Amino acid sequence: MSPALSFFTLLLVFSRADALYGNLLSRCQFSSHDGHDAVYLEQFYFNKILEVQYNSTLGKVIGYTTEGKTFADILNNNPGFIHHEQWKTEFCRRGAQRVYGGLLTPVEPSVWVRSVEAAGSKHPGMLICSVYNFYPKQIRVTWLRNGKETTSDVMSSDEMPNGNWLYQVHSFLEYTPRPGEKISCKVEHASLVEPQLHEWEPMSDSGMYKIIVGIAGLLLGLVFSVGGLMYYKKKSSERVLVPTTEVFYPENTL
Ligand SMILES: *[C@@H]1O[C@H](CO)[C@@H](O)[C@H](O)[C@H]1NC(C)=O
Repeated sequence: MSPALSFFTLLLVFSRADALYGNLLSRCQFSSHDGHDAVYLEQFYFNKILEVQYNSTLGKVIGYTTEGKTFADILNNNPGFIHHEQWKTEFCRRGAQRVYGGLLTPVEPSVWVRSVEAAGSKHPGMLICSVYNFYPKQIRVTWLRNGKETTSDVMSSDEMPNGNWLYQVHSFLEYTPRPGEKISCKVEHASLVEPQLHEWEPMSDSGMYKIIVGIAGLLLGLVFSVGGLMYYKKKSSERVLVPTTEVFYPENTL
């Protein structure tokens, strides 16, 4: 069994005047996704010599020097210490589950379909389907013209690593616009239950219309939130006045 992953902590203890140097190294090693094979190790070195080691497989401390053996006996007869080591082993096991279960699950991509001018091409336009931030690397990006897959005039980049375990890929379609034609980018990936279709919408009247409606909605929302805020301020200043009159004035008026 070669552990695929491990994480460790390091504690250094040293005294410069006496040239003494001690360090405690703790390691959590595992290769299974559920952490059943997780091994927790704790090693104490003094002046670079391994003195004692706790190994969760053995469930006890082993001493490697004369002093180490004495120290190991003390630790092994301390139920609190052993219990704490077992707790740390369990922590290590849960860490394995978290690493594989939380970090390595498929990540759904975000897709952007746009058009650019194709330079030096017999076709007047080019569409780009950019697929960002997905995991794992395996992905299929294809083009549909009126619902049918097209392979001509299609180019694709390699899956490029972002450097954060996520990938991106770009697919290009050279095309001649035809009236009424529906063009979509289809993405198939482990993170998706079913293939995702992203239709290309030309920046035509409908696209412009959507932007205008969006801006109008934004302005309307702004007007209402400012209005609401003013109303709230007015109301809350009225509310402050009420207890003042009730609490402080009755005695004088009675
Ligand atoms: C921990 O103990 C197990 C069982 O004896 C052994 O196979 C393993 O090599 C030990 N690990 C280390 C780092 O000594």
